[in-house]
Amino acid sequence: MAVVTEKETGRLYEGAEASRVLESVGVHYEYWDVTGLDAAVRTRYDLTKEEQEAAILGHFQAELDRISEERGYVIRDLIVLSPKTENIEQMLVNFVKVHHHTEDEVRFIVDGEGIFTVLRHDAWYDIVVRPGDLIAVPAGTRHWFTLTDLRHVKAVRLFQDPNGWVAIYEESKEASA
Ligand SMILES: [Fe+2]
Repeated sequence: MAVVTEKETGRLYEGAEASRVLESVGVHYEYWDVTGLDAAVRTRYDLTKEEQEAAILGHFQAELDRISEERGYVIRDLIVLSPKTENIEQMLVNFVKVHHHTEDEVRFIVDGEGIFTVLRHDAWYDIVVRPGDLIAVPAGTRHWFTLTDLRHVKAVRLFQDPNGWVAIYEESKEASA
């Protein structure tokens, strides 16, 4: 389950309280069980995209179809970040800069961990996402992303725009916060 920290106060929310806080600031949250997924597909980082993407998208197809229908997502794919990922350092440099998108940023975490830091209602929140967590950061929300000390994550991405991940970067004092 996600862990949410309000950065200014340091207040930390876990479990059902975390999902309530996320919903209260407009970040849609769901929890899907990942334990039924093939363990090798879920946890191995030496597989090719082809060896895991179809299996993962297939396993969660009913849920992915349902949320896509409800929220207007038209494409889906798998992103895998680990020390084995080509250009990982450059990717993380881009993800860690404050940016926003013209569509929701949707991630369903299959394995590993990541941290989304988002600005909602004039407050910054750290959202640590873990296996089973799905979040939809609303369009226009300033945010950045980084890995935790685990240094790997495997996640399904959903997009409203067929062009996929397009980031809009802004210069701001918060960027160095
Ligand atoms: Fe983003």
